[in-house]
Amino acid sequence: MMNETETVESRILAWRKRADETLASWLPEEKTLPEKLHQAMRYSVFNGGKRIRPILTYAAGHAVGVSDARLDAAGCAVELIHAYSLVHDDLPAMDDDDLRRGKPTCHKAFDEATAILTGDALQSLAFHVLARGTDTHIPAEQRLEMLDILAVASGSRGMAGGQAIDLAAVGKQLNIAELENMHVHKTGALIRASVKLGALCQPELKPKQLKKLDHYAKCIGLAFQIQDDILDVEGDTKNLGKTPGADEARNKPTYPALLGLDNARQMAQALYTDALSSLENFGEPADPLRWIADYIINRNH
Ligand code: IPE
Ligand code: IPE
Ligand code: MG
Ligand code: MG
Ligand code: MG
Repeated sequence: MMNETETVESRILAWRKRADETLASWLPEEKTLPEKLHQAMRYSVFNGGKRIRPILTYAAGHAVGVSDARLDAAGCAVELIHAYSLVHDDLPAMDDDDLRRGKPTCHKAFDEATAILTGDALQSLAFHVLARGTDTHIPAEQRLEMLDILAVASGSRGMAGGQAIDLAAVGKQLNIAELENMHVHKTGALIRASVKLGALCQPELKPKQLKKLDHYAKCIGLAFQIQDDILDVEGDTKNLGKTPGADEARNKPTYPALLGLDNARQMAQALYTDALSSLENFGEPADPLRWIADYIINRNH
């Protein structure tokens, strides 16, 4: 529960700090052998990410009465998968980007082989953290379910599948349903998993609560990638920490390219409204989830 002096924003900041501390505690030190790989892993995780996924895990857990300490491992695991996905997304064989979070991408700062291994190792670490770090008061069956959720959300029926659709779609004209399908997989799946894992840290979770939270997550997951596409058109390098205009330069299908900026914005707004309607019965504990939905469609980085 939030005390009186605590605003939603200060709680979000505290969650971001908590996520950073948890990541730091699980990632091997830079001097651990093999040093270069561990340096690259830390470099790719601690370079200014917004931590929106672990924050969602904390906020979803908070909405159903779970204490922060019981959410650390799940949030950390999702962020590790996300960090891995970015390292591979930036590789020359994929988006071929030089800048990430205002710094050289992993393969630029190190080398391509190290970046591939960094992604591999971050992914494995995510499952180690979830398997070993999740509070044992959560029944084993539910913890197994959580591992499965993260596995499916990361794989060919989730993020990796979405990335495959993205690469196959370069230079092609997708229709709106195809574009939505791509976004729902490449970005939506992991955002959905972030919320689901947080909720599942509550052993007493009701199926109806899970359904509502999942619908919220589905909406904001898609809105997140629409806003990412919009920022690629109208953002600047300083705020974004990545090079804008890259989607157009690479002929990527995006919402602004297909619908125009105004319609893309309207779509994000409609998804926001839908997301909020799903939280109607959660009361004040869901305020951080409401705040995050607003942030997702109004952010400038
Ligand atoms: C960027 O994600 C990649 C997408 C899935 C759109 P974020 O915008 O969450 O990136 P960081 O972690 O804050 O850098
Ligand atoms: C990223 O989409 C999706 C994943 C990393 C899974 P983008 O390719 O648009 O992300 P950015 O713009 O490079 O961060
Ligand atoms: Mg990409
Ligand atoms: Mg990219
Ligand atoms: Mg993008």
